[in-house]
Amino acid sequence: MPLSNRPSLTQYLIEQRRRFPQATGDFNALILDVALACKAIAKAVARGELGGALGHHADGASVNVQGEQQMKLDVLANDLFLRTTEWAGHLAGMASEELEHPYAIPASYPRGKYLLLFDPLDGSSNIDVNVSVGSIFSVLRVPDEAMRGELDEAHFLQPGRQQVAAGYALYGPATMLILTVGNGVAGFTLDPVLGEFMLTHPDLKVPAETSEFAINASNRRFWEPPVRRYVEECQAGRDGPRGKDFNMRWIASMVAEAHRILMRGGVFLYPRDNKDPSRTGRLRLLYEANPIGFVMEQAGGRASTARQNVLDLQPKSLHQRIGLVFGSRSEVERIERYHAEPAVDDIAAPLFAERSLFTA
Ligand code: AHG
Ligand code: MN
Ligand code: MN
Repeated sequence: MPLSNRPSLTQYLIEQRRRFPQATGDFNALILDVALACKAIAKAVARGELGGALGHHADGASVNVQGEQQMKLDVLANDLFLRTTEWAGHLAGMASEELEHPYAIPASYPRGKYLLLFDPLDGSSNIDVNVSVGSIFSVLRVPDEAMRGELDEAHFLQPGRQQVAAGYALYGPATMLILTVGNGVAGFTLDPVLGEFMLTHPDLKVPAETSEFAINASNRRFWEPPVRRYVEECQAGRDGPRGKDFNMRWIASMVAEAHRILMRGGVFLYPRDNKDPSRTGRLRLLYEANPIGFVMEQAGGRASTARQNVLDLQPKSLHQRIGLVFGSRSEVERIERYHAEPAVDDIAAPLFAERSLFTA
């Protein structure tokens, strides 16, 4: 297809901006800077072993604030996000999986009206095995009171519903950028020759019907009864209550699972479980669940904690973890229903069920 038939990311953004005649162009420039960071990360990822950036981060601080092993590429990707977006005057601050505290824009740069939150490299345990990884980002407005005074962590704690943009880059066989500015979801593919993201998927919709689920089944013994019920019913296939066979996938890069679900449907679960009582889930609300949730909802899907829509949750802390279920709307709603209903065991054998008098 000739180039002129595929708008670039720049053209897409300019056309979207026409809906807001008063817009200054700051927002578009910010998204283009984020896209530039993603292109630089894509290059580093693609060089693999040749780039010298695989493996664990060698500095003393090789464990991040969440107690997770930092890979060299986690740190490199984080720096690329900071350096590419801090200078232009669009941002007041940033928050990253790799930084314990918010990053305030240095005084040497002008301060802008947006906040950028990101997971610079999602699925980083997959880097060394050459499996797809990605970056996830979320854009919030700076609250009015913070425009006048000091920026602090509380200003980042906004419900996902208030995001003005969100998306992710996927560093797979092709590099893609998936973006929502609150008007549907657009997918762009990086043209490696031009170095431009070109619009290849103008209006992505999560297919409503699905028979594919994604969950780390090694955690089965820690799951809550409604999650067990859902997965067991899927596994029972056409002989069970669902009356059809299901397929299962687990990549261990949430961003890659989100992309598969966006392209061909499905449901992803990383539910709250009782593996580690101090943890209220595995994935992080502000820079993993909220941006993916916004993309899913804009594509006609849904994202939930299994108890409520993730976008309505009032965040409590910067690195808060939550249980997360997202994908085809009807499956997510079914999982929510199972969580709202009394457990099947409770109905069948109330005295011996998990929540009964006779179990601790
Ligand atoms: P990150 O690499 O940013 O720490 O996130 C990894 C996340 C997510 O991408 C994935 O779904 C999940 O961790 C994988 O968890 P398991 O190791 O339990 O499979
Ligand atoms: Mn992640
Ligand atoms: Mn990460």
